Amino acid sequence: MTDNLEREDVAPHPAIIQGGMGIGVSNWRLARAVSRQGQLGVVSGTSIDTVLVRRLQDGDPGGHVRRAMERFPIPGVSKRVLERYFLPCGRRADQPYAVLPMYRASVSLARQQITVLANFVEVWLAKEGHDGLVGVNLLTKVQMPNLASLYGAMLAGVDHVLMGAGIPREIPGALDALARHEPASLKLDVENATDAAPVFLSFDPSKHWQPTRLLTRPRFLAIVSAHTLAATLARKATGRVDGFVVEGPTAGGHNAPPRGELQLSSDGEPLYGERDVVDLEKMRELGLPFWLAGGTGTADSVKAARARGAAGVQVGTLFAYCDESGLAPKLRAEVIAGVAKGATRIRTDPRASPTGYPFKVVEVEGMARQDDTRVRVCDLGYLRTAYRTSTGRLDYRCPAEPVETYLAKGGRLEDTIGRRCLCNGLTANIGLPQRRSDGEELPLITSGDELSSIMQLASARGSYGAAEVIAHLLGRAAS
Ligand SMILES: Cc1cc2nc3c(=O)[nH]c(=O)nc-3n(C[C@H](O)[C@H](O)[C@H](O)COP(=O)(O)O)c2cc1C
Repeated sequence: MTDNLEREDVAPHPAIIQGGMGIGVSNWRLARAVSRQGQLGVVSGTSIDTVLVRRLQDGDPGGHVRRAMERFPIPGVSKRVLERYFLPCGRRADQPYAVLPMYRASVSLARQQITVLANFVEVWLAKEGHDGLVGVNLLTKVQMPNLASLYGAMLAGVDHVLMGAGIPREIPGALDALARHEPASLKLDVENATDAAPVFLSFDPSKHWQPTRLLTRPRFLAIVSAHTLAATLARKATGRVDGFVVEGPTAGGHNAPPRGELQLSSDGEPLYGERDVVDLEKMRELGLPFWLAGGTGTADSVKAARARGAAGVQVGTLFAYCDESGLAPKLRAEVIAGVAKGATRIRTDPRASPTGYPFKVVEVEGMARQDDTRVRVCDLGYLRTAYRTSTGRLDYRCPAEPVETYLAKGGRLEDTIGRRCLCNGLTANIGLPQRRSDGEELPLITSGDELSSIMQLASARGSYGAAEVIAHLLGRAAS
């Protein structure tokens, strides 16, 4: 095999990273639009296999998914997936989506291939027709699909991998192995585990096909909320870490919990303090580029970040509401209208996410969102975690699944309280809600604390494009 390229300084570091936003908010359209502007566009690879099969069941308008699937190099996979999921005229309005088998520590080759394919498609489309940089974002905690996701993104030539929500210590080494098409593995987190039998997730490209060319090893950026974690990763990761995104507690999506014992405000939101402030002097000492994330959506913030030694900023919220974002247009418009009227609130909910991390929820007066009245169903399962049963068997559970099921698996009642099904809520956000007997799954939108700053862009005509966000951040006219 030839051509194992290192992505060494192929381009100067971008000033702006459009942050990965799952599920499907930072889709290929958004990442491509950003990338074409010379900045780093990032697709979300989280649950993207479910997004792929739902797009196919909706008839793949425009044929984009099928165009990318034709370029997928592993023989036979695209044909099989099309035969199983593609509906040329789309689903009937009352027909639920067919779902994929939920992930487990070990899944069939066919199931792995759908994940590889879905990540390939998203990155391939984001890179189509230009030579800008494209990254993929994955959550460390959503462990089970990650190796297949990384391989799929790499088959499409992804330039950067960005991962937080956990400690991605083993990912750099996995990227090195996958670039050579060698088997990669990650230690699975198992509750009630006996150390005697650690479980490893593994992915072996040679079981899928016989490649002829080595892949480019993407740059790896770890998303961190503490300089101590950055220092540990720089020293102890299994391979090269190329930089960091330093994310603060005002950022959209999941936030790191405050350090120390959890203290809540009178509204029940986590309180952050001095100990949660990242020491940028220590970040600079690491000698690796870093970007600041969380409330950095103005030209002044970009300038300030650079003055403090950052290469630039990572921004999510402003991009989540732009024309190219994957958020369903109706929901986007409703939130923008809500912000214009002063009828929105961002709540940092310490309980909503089954991961246990604080998660920011957008509340718009009069707009339906998932709440405690949802009849619990667990059919996507990306946030299930592994545990050992009393007989030593490996099983999976999620505190947002039906309460009695969770309790039967040895889970604690208090862990189920206030939990939301992020898998179904976030999939509803992008216009792909599952149909149930009592109606459609409701959305659950997340954004950063500075949601109101979208009005700087949206006030004139009620909407804006990704190029305008970039111009706004760089303090220049949109091109
Ligand atoms: C809708 C939305 C979804 C997000 N999803 C993810 C995600 O899946 N993975 C991740 O690492 N960060 C996620 N984030 C965080 C962004 O990548 C980014 O770091 C953050 O939005 C920056 O702060 P800002 O919201 O103030 O712009 C999300 C943010 C938003 C607004």
